[in-house]
Amino acid sequence: MLKIAIFASGSGTNAENLIESYKNTSIVVSRVYCNNAKAGVIARAERLNVPVTIFSKDELWNSTSVMDSLRTEQVDFIVLAGFMMLLPQTMIDEYRNKIINIHPSLLPKYGGKGMFGIHVHEAVLANHEKESGITIHLVNEEYDSGKPLFQTTCPVLENDTPETLATRVHSLEYQYYPKIVREYMESF
Ligand code: GAR
Repeated sequence: MLKIAIFASGSGTNAENLIESYKNTSIVVSRVYCNNAKAGVIARAERLNVPVTIFSKDELWNSTSVMDSLRTEQVDFIVLAGFMMLLPQTMIDEYRNKIINIHPSLLPKYGGKGMFGIHVHEAVLANHEKESGITIHLVNEEYDSGKPLFQTTCPVLENDTPETLATRVHSLEYQYYPKIVREYMESF
């Protein structure tokens, strides 16, 4: 059995997809960690009977409470699903090569601080890119710069809005994130 914790800050459609995909498998989503008390992911996780821990930036960075909880739960891997904060050094060190993120662009393009969610798609459209896609990568101390595990592309269409492009990119995320995370963990 492999235990994962999902960290999320927003709507949580990827978190929900991961939880649903691993139902009745050897992968257990033991808890969702969220830094935003208003995030949609909270209701999604609770509906799927996954406990949620809400924490502040201060608790994450200046206390051991989140790290203590991961240890208590005996979490093997951390999966970020729309988590919009850097992780503290202690967590990166303890879970070195065991933290995975998904980013809604073809990194290194459109990565870094401030590049998240809809802002990524706005920038892709502003630059008249012909294609976009997803990157699944390991997490290190900086935004979006850890080792890539997987990329795949989708077209950017003439009449795309940030929202229509986001929908196309989200479909790729739902299709590939559970699979790539599982394959990576099983090969570890
Ligand atoms: C996803 O598209 C994910 O790739 C992106 O936020 C969205 C979250 O959607 N992550 C980043 O931009 C990380 N830099 P969701 O809450 O519906 O899963």
